Amino acid sequence: MSQVNMILDVDTGIDDSIALLLALKSEDVRLLGITTVFGNVSVEQATENTLQVANLAGRSDVPVLMGADRPLLGEWDGPVVHIHGPNGVGGYSFPATDRKPGKERAADFIVRTVNEHPHELTLVFVGRLTNLAHALAKDPGIASRVKRLVLMGGALRAPGNVTPVSEANIWGDPEAARRVFESGMPITMVGLDVTMAVKLNESHIERVVREMAPGGERQAAFIEHILRFYFSAYERENGIYGSPAHDPLAVAVAIDPSFVETEEHDIRIETKGTVSYGATLSDMRGTPKRTNASVCVAVDTERFTEYLLRVLCR
Ligand code: BDR
Ligand code: CA
Repeated sequence: MSQVNMILDVDTGIDDSIALLLALKSEDVRLLGITTVFGNVSVEQATENTLQVANLAGRSDVPVLMGADRPLLGEWDGPVVHIHGPNGVGGYSFPATDRKPGKERAADFIVRTVNEHPHELTLVFVGRLTNLAHALAKDPGIASRVKRLVLMGGALRAPGNVTPVSEANIWGDPEAARRVFESGMPITMVGLDVTMAVKLNESHIERVVREMAPGGERQAAFIEHILRFYFSAYERENGIYGSPAHDPLAVAVAIDPSFVETEEHDIRIETKGTVSYGATLSDMRGTPKRTNASVCVAVDTERFTEYLLRVLCR
């Protein structure tokens, strides 16, 4: 398999941390940069966590660029402490680092890098789409020059996770999502229809601890810590000790689309509704006249989980 040229945008975050480790450690990825955004935590905290996770993976070579601290319209509603902990990584404390993010802003980095690699770059967004909306405002032409956008967000037939019908990454900046879905960019939507189908559990933690390659003990301890925190949070909310694998699945789909089955849809974003704010809607009454996204509707959970664990343990 040839390497995927990737920019990964994160709001690190526990499942973002696992997605980062997957992208940083996979031999199938050439990671050109990581951009950060507000969401699970503030953009400053997301940037700090991202730098630390990259250090942990021995990848201080990958540039980290800070992005938006708020949605296009309105204000950020604050950190998601009950799911991701006070610092976004379940209270895990990293050793001090003086590594700083790059000076370029995330949106400028995205525009420049897409234009330097026309039709070669896969963008993977696992937080709000705010940085991409800013990048499109600076240069709408990037929509036709990215190879593909793979995003974790939305829900087609599955229920929402922030409201009955809305998923967190879209709900957190629906105006940005609307602009991205209307941009003409080729989009794969990795939403709750598939991410909720993958369940990580205690046996997966045990396997990471047992099978981690020599020298990776700190990585294993980090993964163990954050997943235990995430599992407990999920248990409090849903009664099951374990967790979905939202963000890592999006990275995996960018690497190998055969992990999922897709349907073509014309996804519209609800930006105004009081009940349906942030919903990703498709008219399913017949064959759509036009489509703007390949929506993931089924996932090979076993093959994906095997791939994830194999790469994490490298
Ligand atoms: C998404 O919301 C965030 O909490 C997770 O990191 C993931 O990107 C799931 O809805
Ligand atoms: Ca995320």
